[in-house]
Amino acid sequence: MGDALFHGGGPQKELGVTLTKTGMACAMCHPFASDVHPHQFPKFQEQMSEVAGLREMINWCIEKPNEGVKIGIDSEAMIALEAYIMWSHKGTVIDPGTH
Ligand code: HEC
Repeated sequence: MGDALFHGGGPQKELGVTLTKTGMACAMCHPFASDVHPHQFPKFQEQMSEVAGLREMINWCIEKPNEGVKIGIDSEAMIALEAYIMWSHKGTVIDPGTH
């Protein structure tokens, strides 16, 4: 489900979420979910001027670049997106200092 949501599909209606109003999918800006550095969160995010967790960052992307409606922090859609990102990231070589 997270894979489908990340690529702009998935049961958004059934889950009651609007991830975008512009037609953008996460994957259009982040072709590889594995590249969004999920291991770095929580971290200070300049755009938010605060320390954000991964789920807050996902919501920032839904609200700002995606112009969607932010989703519940513990919602099924959020957990699915997080699970997909973490699953994609598995095995990625972490290169300290580059990101
Ligand atoms: C229109 C382009 C765009 C779309 C679509 C988009 N993002 Fe992002 N995303 C960004 C930008 C810009 C950043 C900020 C990069 C930074 O400064 O760290 C970002 C950062 C992130 C980060 C943190 C990456 C890091 O290295 O700190 C995550 C996680 C993320 N996005 C997830 C998502 C998810 C999930 C979706 C779909 C719901 C999504 N994004 C949709 C542009 C986009």
